[in-house]
Amino acid sequence: MDANNENMAPIGVFDSGYGGLTVLRDIKALLPQYDYLYLGDNARAPYGSRSFELVYDFTLQAVEYLFGQGCRLVIVACNTASAKALRSIQQNDLPRIDPNRRVLGVIRPTVEQVGEISRNGHIGILGTPGTIASESYNMEIAKLYPHFHAYGQPCPMWVPLVENKEYDSPGADYFVKKYIDQLMQRCADIDTVILGCTHYPLLLPKIRQFMPQGVAVVPQGEIVAHSLADYLRRHPEIEQCCSRGGSTEYLTTESASKFEQSASVFMNVDIKAKRITL
Ligand code: DGL
Repeated sequence: MDANNENMAPIGVFDSGYGGLTVLRDIKALLPQYDYLYLGDNARAPYGSRSFELVYDFTLQAVEYLFGQGCRLVIVACNTASAKALRSIQQNDLPRIDPNRRVLGVIRPTVEQVGEISRNGHIGILGTPGTIASESYNMEIAKLYPHFHAYGQPCPMWVPLVENKEYDSPGADYFVKKYIDQLMQRCADIDTVILGCTHYPLLLPKIRQFMPQGVAVVPQGEIVAHSLADYLRRHPEIEQCCSRGGSTEYLTTESASKFEQSASVFMNVDIKAKRITL
């Protein structure tokens, strides 16, 4: 890490578990020059079926931990946490904790992109039960594209499949097909489907297999990476605080060796992790 300036620190990236690694991978590919500090709350994942209050508490703890490590900017690379906690943290907690720090989520940048992709304005959203019940995507879509129609489909089994490394197993086929069929039965005109959970890119080959032809599937990693690059261009005061050593450190609330094994598969490189307590 760049130790020349003590005000400089890595960009924090947070997820309930491994899913945020799919976002980190794309961020690192686009912006390799910065240092990153990844935190997975694996011990308490999945968040998707937890109450609003718990997801908010857990997310705030993680963000404060990353701030405590010096991060000026934290990306909440988790839709469930973005849906249930981001706005409160930005509006109520940041002014109290430190108004000079920033927390960004993944929902808004994703919705901004679907306007470019959809031809007929019928958008499907696949997400955790928490993300879908929050209607965060529907609200963002209604704000940016009032004439669009949004259909949310909860996929409660998909995160457990990924967290348990079953995303490639024959058993995954059943649940992948099931939720896609349920979504498409609601509206056969859907032409664009948002993967509204950062775990889902691991299921992408199966999702593509069962998705009707001609439907665009939109994962978030690259979108969030480009949105971060744009944010850093527009906010030099934050960018100047992001250290540039090209390193990545990994923190997990579960066992480090368990995280290392799974995360190495996600990132395609050997990973060393440290266990922390929130
Ligand atoms: N990666 C998280 C998301 O994007 C997964 C949520 C969970 O832990 O259930 O929603």
